[in-house]
Amino acid sequence: MAHSTPPPTYTGKFSAIYDLFYAHKTYTQEADFVQSLLTRFGDKPTQKILELGCGTGTHSFLLEAHGHQILATDLSPDMIQAARVKAEARGSTVRFAAQDMIELDQPGRPYDAVVCLFDSFCYVTDNDNVETVLTRVHQHLKPGGLFIFEFWNAAAMIQHLDPVRVARLQHGEDEIVKLSEAKLDYQHQLYQVKYTLYEIKADAMCHVYTERHSNRYYQIQEMAYFLDKASLQPLKWFAGYAEDETITGDTWNIVCVAQAKTRVPLKTP
Ligand SMILES: C[S@@+](CC[C@H](N)C(=O)[O-])C[C@H]1O[C@@H](n2cnc3c(N)ncnc32)[C@H](O)[C@@H]1O
Repeated sequence: MAHSTPPPTYTGKFSAIYDLFYAHKTYTQEADFVQSLLTRFGDKPTQKILELGCGTGTHSFLLEAHGHQILATDLSPDMIQAARVKAEARGSTVRFAAQDMIELDQPGRPYDAVVCLFDSFCYVTDNDNVETVLTRVHQHLKPGGLFIFEFWNAAAMIQHLDPVRVARLQHGEDEIVKLSEAKLDYQHQLYQVKYTLYEIKADAMCHVYTERHSNRYYQIQEMAYFLDKASLQPLKWFAGYAEDETITGDTWNIVCVAQAKTRVPLKTP
């Protein structure tokens, strides 16, 4: 039986400073790579895209700029609110909706493509829920539609986990220090991290915020098995957002492009 969904992460202060912490993430290159996959593997022109775990919508806006019509969803109402504020400021027509991808049920089907980028898919941690999400993705796609998503590579996570990381940034007058304390649950393939934010005000007052996140890391063949069960055919696996199909123990993030099968073939015993 599927586990219940944990409460949303990236709420409150964590959503408010999300873009600050990821200001140097290569979003433009990532969106361009996704666009190249849509052009290479999809029916042209791709028009309607559904995004899962969209966060504050940075990929959504970049994909919109490639000419797509986007509906973007996320579990965290605070992230969706932050995305809507950005949409209004830039005059974007991306529509945003708060929804758990485990309960994915959006109007406007079928979509030409579903995308789920960064580690959003990894917040789905148990087998039943993985199957549910992938089945729902399939139900939202047209036959031959694409599912383009990213996940953590087990090998890199196990070999290279950095248990303690500290990042320090300026936010207006305030200094923000982000402490990440991580460990692995090998049995359940989970990267469990406690984030502590120290918001140090100009007058030296300090506010402290914490969140605990749990992300599953995957091996390619287990992901291929899950995709197949949901009638999604993996087409390619990439070592991140580049034309590199050599996945090694140092590859942290794997990008997969899968295609909705038009019909489910009979399996012979
Ligand atoms: C690291 S952020 C990535 C956001 C965005 N894709 C990006 O690249 O900036 C992970 C996102 O996944 C969302 N998330 C976590 N669990 C989810 C779920 N079950 N359904 C939908 N979104 C979820 C979080 O709220 C968060 O916004």
